[in-house]
Amino acid sequence: MFNDGFVDGLESAAKAVLPDYVYGYFAGIAGGGESVQDATELWNTVRFRPRSFTNYASLQTGTSVLGHAVDTPVLAAPMAQQNAATPLAEVAMARAVRDAGSLLGISTNTSVPFDQIASVGAPWWFQVYVMRDQGLSNALVERAAAAGAKALILTVETTRLTSAGLTIDPHFWPESPSKKRLGNLLGEDLVGLPSDATESSQNLSLDVIEELRDRTGLEVVVKGILRADDARAAVDAGAAGIIVSTHGGRRLGASVSSIAALPAVIQSVGNDCEVYVDSGIRSGVHVAAALALGAQAVFVGRPLMWGLAAAGESGAASVLAHFTQELCETMAGIGAGTISDLTPDLIA
Ligand SMILES: Cc1cc2nc3c(=O)[nH]c(=O)nc-3n(C[C@H](O)[C@H](O)[C@H](O)COP(=O)(O)O)c2cc1C
Repeated sequence: MFNDGFVDGLESAAKAVLPDYVYGYFAGIAGGGESVQDATELWNTVRFRPRSFTNYASLQTGTSVLGHAVDTPVLAAPMAQQNAATPLAEVAMARAVRDAGSLLGISTNTSVPFDQIASVGAPWWFQVYVMRDQGLSNALVERAAAAGAKALILTVETTRLTSAGLTIDPHFWPESPSKKRLGNLLGEDLVGLPSDATESSQNLSLDVIEELRDRTGLEVVVKGILRADDARAAVDAGAAGIIVSTHGGRRLGASVSSIAALPAVIQSVGNDCEVYVDSGIRSGVHVAAALALGAQAVFVGRPLMWGLAAAGESGAASVLAHFTQELCETMAGIGAGTISDLTPDLIA
């Protein structure tokens, strides 16, 4: 099994400095955790069929996502509660991402005002949970667009950390700055609304894709898709991209893993939109596998959170650098000089 100890080392370092309830929330999984267990193991089962006759002067990891040039296909997943990892939260993450030439997702639940994130200068996509009071999520997407978000990520599953228990749900954390979330809603937004107004809506229709696009002028990438038919429906409804994701195994314990779901989604919509993948990606070898299978780029979640918790900006930077370096080594080994050379024939 591939394991150079890098991510495990960061996780141990993060665990040593985080309160138990914060570590528990970051590491948390749904149900019995079958999906999260499978995910990394399945990425580890990919085997390559290397090319022998290649001709390239240097290795290039640059690519583009929705037309935006990035230096690496290793992107930062939107994650809530980054202020519990390090006081600078998404500002630290964005600095690491900017310096790596990558791109980051910003969670609906960020505690940091959009203008502070935007001022770092990293490209960012705003992740939307459609709330029970849709006026609130509308206000958030408009503010994100005005602050310079380059696209929206519409997360289409409602995550519940079911069997992990209430003690790790941030709602039940002790009062502290680390509990703060929804930093871009104003006090007056919530006046007169029921207490569950910010919870995720239970009625999500495909129309929301076009509504969000019309409201902001931004492209919408749909996150959390695991089925070819859902991917097709989302693209037909106007999605510009699909993120195949199990939410890092936090959504459904016995879910299919994202690597197992990826090929059918690529086959269904790969010619019509960009497809990205996340969940369980723990090395640059996994990144090479995802791209060879047809993903345009990958999102990385917990490894970046561990880096952020263990060493702030430089910890997150070390993850992006490590994964990109391993990607380069893998590309050299399999005879792929550029990202576009990562094609399905390389997978055995
Ligand atoms: C602590 C934590 C918080 C997260 N918060 C969000 C969120 O607010 N919105 C969202 O769409 N995904 C969220 N995710 C899921 C990530 O975007 C991503 O899908 C997942 O972490 C990828 O799996 P990995 O952690 O195995 O890399 C969160 C994940 C973690 C670990």
